Amino acid sequence: MSNEVKKDYTKAELEAMSNGELAALGTELDDVTIAYRKERFPIANDPAEKRAENNVNIWLAVSVLSGIAFLAVYLFWPWEPKFHGDEGLGIFSMYTPLLGLTSGLALVALGVAIVQYVKKFIPEEVAVQRRHDGPSSELDRRTTTALLNDAWETSTLGRRKVTKGLLGGAGLLAGLAIIAPMGGMIKNPWRAYEMNYNGDGTLWTSGWTLHDKGVKLYLARDTGAIAEKHETATGTHFTTEGVSRLVRVRPEDIAAGGMETVYPLAEEDVNDGANYDAERDVYENHMHSIHGPRNSVMLIRLRSQDAAKVVERDGQEDFHYGDYYAYSKICTHIGCPTSLYEAQTNRILCPCHQSQFDALQYGKPVFGPAARALPQLPLAVDEEGYLIAKSNFIEPVGPAFWERKS
Ligand code: FES
Repeated sequence: MSNEVKKDYTKAELEAMSNGELAALGTELDDVTIAYRKERFPIANDPAEKRAENNVNIWLAVSVLSGIAFLAVYLFWPWEPKFHGDEGLGIFSMYTPLLGLTSGLALVALGVAIVQYVKKFIPEEVAVQRRHDGPSSELDRRTTTALLNDAWETSTLGRRKVTKGLLGGAGLLAGLAIIAPMGGMIKNPWRAYEMNYNGDGTLWTSGWTLHDKGVKLYLARDTGAIAEKHETATGTHFTTEGVSRLVRVRPEDIAAGGMETVYPLAEEDVNDGANYDAERDVYENHMHSIHGPRNSVMLIRLRSQDAAKVVERDGQEDFHYGDYYAYSKICTHIGCPTSLYEAQTNRILCPCHQSQFDALQYGKPVFGPAARALPQLPLAVDEEGYLIAKSNFIEPVGPAFWERKS
């Protein structure tokens, strides 16, 4: 028992002890009783030991190779999204499965190797320890260190150089397989790309920013039509037959008290009404507009008695068209779609954290965590009677961030 063990050792006495003696002393001091202990390979140069070591090394090598394969796939495999009909769609489709396969194999093989090592080389032991309270003494700290050293010695890992190297490499690569994908999240927010329905890639642009480049933008609603491959006189096209995916909206399409989600549609991508042509291949552009992360807008037609109560924001007095108001659908809290419009109260609700915005007061937040008004899109109607954007949003869309001034 511990109270029968000598504890008052001087520093010199402790330093004179070997690691084995300190480990044995630590075991006694910790009230640990070794009930059972058996070496896995008590006879030196046992061929079974070599076979066991090779087995572990094979698993570690599989883990290392899989880790390297993961990094190679992550860094060099073609990852840019491809769509139906694009060349290289098959190769792109393999990207995510290969990442999963290689990283999974690296981790599983490392796990198997560790389990095998413990089962084959660490001595079988049953130890029982009684618990006691209080901080550790100098003696305890030293003996614990000695016990850890002893565990390292008995693991025999120190003298198995190949296994040790492979284990280190496999651990490193498995760790990289977890950490490396985070590199994909690091982006330069100021880097501008080509302007399209996604904006130019910077946070303060959207498809509506195309207006600043002189593009006429219609407010268009999503019909949900799915394009299919059609062989026509001019070749193979992915088109919707009869109904375009995005169609322009006229004021009379929305009833008083109604709301419609609309997206920017460039004049050159219009394929509805008198402009419909079954052979035009604009489906992909329509989908880009729908998928643009900051593009969706709520087009609201207020009831006329409510429109009379509207309070316009300074500088936005002419943003509406009659009773029609258009607000960004991207919540200014953390960017969920504010998809609920309640006509009785004229509240716009974001379902994520229950922010509410007042449609009669320039989308001002009146409840919940959002602190900024929903950006309002300036509206007009063109000579054909379709709703168009009179300009881009005058402020960035979505959650607050460092560039925003409103
Ligand atoms: S994202 Fe809309 S309330 Fe949080």
